[in-house]
Amino acid sequence: MYAQKANAPTRKPVTVPSLRAMKAEGRRIVMLTVYDASFAAQLEMAGVDVALVGDSLGMVVQGHASTLPVTLDHMVYHTSIVARGLGSTLLVADLPFMADRDVGHALEAGAQLVGEGGAAMVKIEGAAPHILDAISALVARAIPVCAHLGLTPQSVHKFGGFRIQGRAQEAADHLVAQAEAVEAAGAELLVLEGIPTGLGERITRAVSIPTIGIGAGPHCDGQVLVLHDMLGVTPGKRPKFSKDFLAGRDSVAAAIAAYAEDVRNGAFPAAEHSFD
Ligand code: KIV
Repeated sequence: MYAQKANAPTRKPVTVPSLRAMKAEGRRIVMLTVYDASFAAQLEMAGVDVALVGDSLGMVVQGHASTLPVTLDHMVYHTSIVARGLGSTLLVADLPFMADRDVGHALEAGAQLVGEGGAAMVKIEGAAPHILDAISALVARAIPVCAHLGLTPQSVHKFGGFRIQGRAQEAADHLVAQAEAVEAAGAELLVLEGIPTGLGERITRAVSIPTIGIGAGPHCDGQVLVLHDMLGVTPGKRPKFSKDFLAGRDSVAAAIAAYAEDVRNGAFPAAEHSFD
C-alpha cells in the first residue's frame, strides 16, 4: 500500500503513430482493459501496448448485465485513476452509451475523457452516419479515435443478445464497408468484436489502420481481452473467445505477461477461441 507509484515509463511510450508502424512492421499490438491504478501499473510493467478503460466496467466492476448503465462521469473517473498507474502504455477510453448521440455530445465526452481523464484516444461504437460525423469532428479537434465494429455491446438490444455478427455474406460485406467508412472518417484504430475469423482477416486486409480483435480470430493486427475474463474472475461461464491466463500461474503479473507474449507470438487466439 505504501509502495512507490509504478508509473515511471518502462520503455519508449506507445503513441498513436507508433500503432500504424506496428501494423506496417507486422508487430502484433497487445491491448487489455483496465479500470484502476493498481492494475494499470501491472499492465505497464508487463509492457502491454494499449490500455482500454472499457465501458465493460459496467459489467465486471459494477455488476450490471450490460454496458448501458455506464455514464460519462463513471468513464472519466475510471480513466483518470487508470492514467495514474500508467507510464508508457497508450490509454484509450470508451465513449459510453449515448455519449455519442450527436456530434456535440461526442465532442464534449471526448474533451472530458482526454482533458480530465488523461486518455490519448477515445473509442466509439458503430458506423452510423452520426458516428462517422462524430469521428471526423473528434479527429479534427486532435482527439484520436478508435472505432469498434461487429458485436458492439451498446447495441445488445438491437442484436437480441450478445450474438456473433457478420456470419451471412451480406452482413459481412456490410461490415467491410463500415470498416472502410470509419477509416475514411479518420479513425486510427479499429476494434473488431465477435465476428468470424475469415471476416476479421478480410477487414484487416481492407483497411490500413490496425485492427484489434476480440473474438475476431488470429489475423487481426492485435488482440484485446477484458481483464477480469483473462484473470478468470468474471462470474459465470468464461466467453469462448477469452482464456484464463492466471490458471497455472502464481501472479497477476505472470498472467498478463503470458497474455502479452502469446498475442505477440501468435499463440493467442487459437482456433478454440475463434468463430468460423
Ligand atoms: O468495453 C470494453 O471492454 C470493450 C472491449 C471488449 C473491446 O469495448
